[in-house]
Amino acid sequence: INAWRKRQSLAFHRNPLRLRRRMSQACRDRLVRTPTVIAMCGLPARGKTYISKKLARYLHWIGIKTKVFNVGEYRRDVVKSYADKDFFDPDNAEAVAVRNLCAQNALEDMCNYLADEGEVAIFDATNTTRERRRVIYDYCAHTFCFRVFFVESICDSVDIIDANIREVKLKSPDYKTVPQDEAASDFLSRIKQYEKRYETIDDKTENNYSFIKIFNCGERFLVHKIGGHIQSRVVYFLMNIHVLPRTIYLTRHGESELNQQHRIGGDPPLSRNGKLYAEALAEYMDNENIPDLIVWTSQMQRTIETAAKINAPKEQWKALNEINAGICEGLTYVEIAERFPDEFAARDQSKFYYRYPGGESYQDLVARLEPVIMELERAENVLVVCHQAVARCILSYFLDTDAEDLPYTKVPLHTIIKLTPMAYGCTMECIPLPIEAANTHRERPKNCRPDRTVEEALNEFLEPDTTARVIRTKSEIFYNSCGTKIETRDEDGNRIQRYDSINADSSLNNIGSLVQDLN
Ligand code: F6P
Repeated sequence: INAWRKRQSLAFHRNPLRLRRRMSQACRDRLVRTPTVIAMCGLPARGKTYISKKLARYLHWIGIKTKVFNVGEYRRDVVKSYADKDFFDPDNAEAVAVRNLCAQNALEDMCNYLADEGEVAIFDATNTTRERRRVIYDYCAHTFCFRVFFVESICDSVDIIDANIREVKLKSPDYKTVPQDEAASDFLSRIKQYEKRYETIDDKTENNYSFIKIFNCGERFLVHKIGGHIQSRVVYFLMNIHVLPRTIYLTRHGESELNQQHRIGGDPPLSRNGKLYAEALAEYMDNENIPDLIVWTSQMQRTIETAAKINAPKEQWKALNEINAGICEGLTYVEIAERFPDEFAARDQSKFYYRYPGGESYQDLVARLEPVIMELERAENVLVVCHQAVARCILSYFLDTDAEDLPYTKVPLHTIIKLTPMAYGCTMECIPLPIEAANTHRERPKNCRPDRTVEEALNEFLEPDTTARVIRTKSEIFYNSCGTKIETRDEDGNRIQRYDSINADSSLNNIGSLVQDLN
């Protein structure tokens, strides 16, 4: 540890000139864009990482470059074998020095990220002393001219703390080889160590800070000196989320008459197959027997018809209407490729940002759907009956999909998607109902140049399948202890996708499974 400390402390002071240049650049940029630091605060097991992850996912979804810096990950990277609660004793000078350096390194990385490219960074640590908060504030606000917003989670409900410890903390790599009861008791002692020095944010001596205090997972809030629109959006979001168990069901409408003809948009009625799906869906929902289910549809007749037979209260949302394809409404992809080759190529080059002339882009759609997401956060059991592009946007919020991949997410017709929020993410199950439907999914083409031929633009879509081929396959998402997605593996354990993460291997920990349609 001593050798490591020396190395780290040298590294921290390795290039003061570079740091100063970076700082003054950050201050110069201040008038153009002011990055925001969201610094968490609170004792262990108060949901700080849960809030950090969820907030980052929301900000990422609304298009704000956001990253979480979790000091626990830095600590685990350095101290490979966690001994026990004594490591968190504030009187253990050696351990305090290591923990301070980890925090300092995370702070430096975070400020570099914001000076380079980030818009919001979330500093996920306990930050339970006035002194620690002062260091964060001075470094971020005075040295870098960033805005700083503290989010303190205060919880005295034994049940909530206990549930958090059992659901999340005991799965941490810290307790890989420790029996559960022993681990639970060690974690409670760890909390006691922090309590020795805990100082809640004081609205007199820390009166100059912007902060929100969240009491018992949203039972009550105290908001102080909000600065800027990002902070007010953060506050609004935090005041809407809840932790009650619930399930969100998502489905597209039944096949429409225009889907059968491979035409996009319009407001067509359901086809014969679509009507069969409406019946099957109502039966499925009935069998699920979901308490207090509510059904949301768009204002288009295909979703209203699809939900008609479901035995639950219904609400129509204009915001759930399908993407407006402007001059391309009612055309097939073949017709668009022939009549508007440049537009078609432009969309393929940047499908998320491309806006149909007289219509919308996926980016517009995300903005239009924000109130729906906020209401979904407030609601409990909901079935959303919507459209292909809309379902992709809603799914991307829950699955944290990048903007580039969002418009290519496969959401076949006649399939129910069941989303269940978990500790740090969400499990997803796809249930295809056995009723034929057109395949409306168009793959990302290999050639996106404006001078391509119609055949090249359409790939395999020239002769579309009339039946969506849905294979029900299981895959699992692996998270590390801080809720960062690490990788997805198929049923045989083969890696499907790997995500960027600090210290991924050392903290591998499967806390939730995902059943996903991989077709
Ligand atoms: O084809 C069905 C549909 O819902 C159209 O109405 C809509 O324009 C389209 O899907 C959106 O999918 P994409 O963005 O892949 O064209």
